Amino acid sequence: MSGTSLDALDAALVDFSGFPPKLLACRSYPFQEALRQSLLSLFTPGYNEIDTLGALDRQLGQLSAELVLELLQDAGVAPAAISAIGSHGQTLRHRPDRTPDLRFSLQISDPNTIAQLTGITTVADFRRRDIAAGGQGAPLVPAFHQYLLGPDIAPCALVNIGGIANVTLLDQNLCLGFDTGPGNGLMDYWCQRHLGHPFDAGGDWAAQGQCHTELLHHWLNEPYFQSPPPKSTGKETFNGAWLEQQLATFEADTGVRLAPVDVQATLAALTCRSITAGLQHNSLQLTNVYICGGGSFNGCLLEGLRQGLSGVSVQTTQALGVPAQWMEPMAFAWLAQQTLAGLAGNKPAVTGASQAVVLGGIYPGKRGIHIN
Ligand SMILES: Nc1ncnc2c1ncn2[C@@H]1O[C@H](COP(=O)(O)OP(=O)(O)OP(=O)(O)O)[C@@H](O)[C@H]1O
Ligand SMILES: [Mg+2]
Repeated sequence: MSGTSLDALDAALVDFSGFPPKLLACRSYPFQEALRQSLLSLFTPGYNEIDTLGALDRQLGQLSAELVLELLQDAGVAPAAISAIGSHGQTLRHRPDRTPDLRFSLQISDPNTIAQLTGITTVADFRRRDIAAGGQGAPLVPAFHQYLLGPDIAPCALVNIGGIANVTLLDQNLCLGFDTGPGNGLMDYWCQRHLGHPFDAGGDWAAQGQCHTELLHHWLNEPYFQSPPPKSTGKETFNGAWLEQQLATFEADTGVRLAPVDVQATLAALTCRSITAGLQHNSLQLTNVYICGGGSFNGCLLEGLRQGLSGVSVQTTQALGVPAQWMEPMAFAWLAQQTLAGLAGNKPAVTGASQAVVLGGIYPGKRGIHIN
């Protein structure tokens, strides 16, 4: 798994033979700056994209294979004992806002290379089948969240705060979910620009600033926040250029120019406000909210969510036995297992697809395809 933050490639070794699934080992490979910059260059249209994409597709496939083999070596598990690798790949472009026939979502990290170098059957390209069935191709993690929490639950929600944030709303026989908007992505951009750090460690910088209510409301006018689910978004909408443009318009309209620290505090409030608004969708009387993704390390976000959700217990997914940063990699391991078993991985009520479908493509390993 590697998400829109472009921070790292993450691998989780998961045992699904019992319930709940067990996270046996995990390993991250932080992206080196040159690779990060090359990937970033493909987030916006530019020169020589196809050659750059082709090379990066192979390179990410090789890095994924190396990461998996190192993970297995550390864990003392032979590649032959592994049923499959679920590889999300790196999203370069996600265009769910187009008419259904022109929608697409593009992930790279060549699964042929992963299967060839590891000898392990690889399942990849999870999003495009949902799009072909009329869906957004995202979010895909809600099905795993529902599996993990089981059917007998009080209304609760999971919130994944990556570059973009997404929520899953669960109740007995109910599973909804959508992207709420920015997670850490805009804060990462602003922190890099003003402090030269890739992210605001602990949310300490944001905590020193003051949220500017008028600016927050100006941002909340972005049509994405008002639009009803199914919906998903990405860096195509919420990126540095969006933020700079918004700040420029706000300054032109009001004459107000904020100190960078106050912009950071307001960005944290934007993430919290859009998440809490999302959690109020469908008027579920939530009892528990579980946070995962890198944003769970941001104290300012956790505090903001707790304030915005009074009466609701807000904890990280560690309370469910899943370390916050490993939920998404575990979800894609589970989705691979669903695919190999011929079972659907999408939730039509979440993505808007016309039907539940088996997601992804299967790239056989040395032993062919084995379903455990
Ligand atoms: N100690 C920390 N303090 C504050 N923020 C952190 C910390 N560690 C990680 N983060 C934030 O988490 C982000 C990475 O989170 P994560 O890997 O969940 O996102 P992602 O790769 O974009 O995934 P996706 O978009 O698919 O959910 C970093 O960019 C950073 O903003
Ligand atoms: Mg990440």
